[in-house]
Amino acid sequence: MENNRSSWGSNIGFLLAAIGSAVGLGNIWGFPYKMGKSGGFTFLIVYLLLAVFVGMIIMVSELAVGRKTKLSPIDAYQKVSKKFAWIGWLATIAPFLIMSFYTVLGGYCLQYIALNMTKLSFGNDSVAMSGGEVFGAMLTTPLGCVVFTLLFIVICMVIVQGGVSGGIEKFNKVGMPALFVMLLIIIVRSLTLPNAVEGLKFMFVPGYAVKAGFIESSPNLITVLGTAGGQMFFSLSLAMGAILTYGSYLGKEENLVKNSAIIVVSDTLIALVAGIAVIPAAVANGIAQGTPVGQIKLGGPNLLFVTLQDVFSNMGKLGPLFGVIFYVLVLIAAISSAISLMETIAAHWIDKDLAKGETDTRKQRVLIVSLLILLEAVIVAADGLGSNFSPASLLGISTVPTFLDCFLDFMDCWSEGIAMPLGAMLMALMVGWETGPDLVLDEVAHGDPSEGFKKFYRLCIKFIVPIVMAFVLAGQMIDFFGGSQMIWYVVAVLLLVGFWAFAFPGSKKEE
Ligand code: PFF
Repeated sequence: MENNRSSWGSNIGFLLAAIGSAVGLGNIWGFPYKMGKSGGFTFLIVYLLLAVFVGMIIMVSELAVGRKTKLSPIDAYQKVSKKFAWIGWLATIAPFLIMSFYTVLGGYCLQYIALNMTKLSFGNDSVAMSGGEVFGAMLTTPLGCVVFTLLFIVICMVIVQGGVSGGIEKFNKVGMPALFVMLLIIIVRSLTLPNAVEGLKFMFVPGYAVKAGFIESSPNLITVLGTAGGQMFFSLSLAMGAILTYGSYLGKEENLVKNSAIIVVSDTLIALVAGIAVIPAAVANGIAQGTPVGQIKLGGPNLLFVTLQDVFSNMGKLGPLFGVIFYVLVLIAAISSAISLMETIAAHWIDKDLAKGETDTRKQRVLIVSLLILLEAVIVAADGLGSNFSPASLLGISTVPTFLDCFLDFMDCWSEGIAMPLGAMLMALMVGWETGPDLVLDEVAHGDPSEGFKKFYRLCIKFIVPIVMAFVLAGQMIDFFGGSQMIWYVVAVLLLVGFWAFAFPGSKKEE
């Protein structure tokens, strides 16, 4: 069976695909805004520490379990663990839920490319609406959103049907360098706008976001830890099966520690660079338009589809050109992430078919997965971020916790909010206490890790990762469900202690 299983054409192809999975909407609209809001440099330091002590560790572990088993998440976890076999299900359902909204956002990008192309061809005034008006009109036209979501899904489907090296690797080999060049063009344009420096101060100067009126008060360190941890996991595509699946196509000779470090460093650098490209432009344009700084929208869909569209519309004749470049860049980032999620889900069935000796089922399996994704995405596309209907309005609830705001938040809550931190915590407990860290370290040994790395890995996987993940889980539950912070911390700690007891004492599964 293994002989027929897909594999990467080269290590650099794998790296570009993994970086492509990591670099996505999370880098562009999540990182810079959360960094500014959560204390600039303080957030960056917390983020970097988490990336080293937690992100790197889970990345190495996922790659190792993937490569060792040469299976997709559900079967891979079944093979290595008795007690935690079901983590594989979390790592397959979560990508499925993420795809419900990621594809809709990809569809928005397509619509904004079309918008800026129209402006480029027929003049800036051919669509004389502000970013807010354009976005509002788009959200309240469900049919349009569904059609563009479908288009985005078809693009991803065709790439994934092309195979691991023939589709995913090929796309990223062209897409990633192109994305980088486009980012540089946008940075140069952004930083040469008057008042751009205010945006840089928002991102980097501790306390500036509060002083200048962008936000009311700085969050405390525990909240920063939760925010930075959640962002780091989503951004690095961790605990969602994607990295494990990509690792399962990797050759034995490749160095997992080095590869993980390259992915983590590249993703973080691109998040910083993306921030430097978009935040100064957004702030500069807001100030030029006389918007009070506190009202400039710097995060989430608003940053991408309201604030930045205004930036391009106000840039004069060449504005739409920069608009096209920017939204193509975001589209590439969205596609390269979405295909990793689609591959993770489809790989489960493709592996099953291979085990039965059926070698040629990829196209058909990917088609079925795409149809299933379309079914759930239609709901997210049609609710227009809550403009048309929402889980809360359907349930007739008036005081609305974040997770019922709109279907995007609802899906995000279960995937990024719960499955991701829980999955990472469970994986660490499984490797640290049930199977023992050698499950990963023996596999990593093909790249010959130093004694120092082994010690560091054991310490992190046994203690640091599970504890940090409990904080991240609590932070996510506070964000999504609201209510008493204390209760969510207690819930997270109880889960941690409960699963720790469950994992211990270890019992190795016979292979
Ligand atoms: N890392 C992507 C982003 O930053 O937007 C999102 C993502 C892709 C999350 C793949 C999880 C995943 F498995």
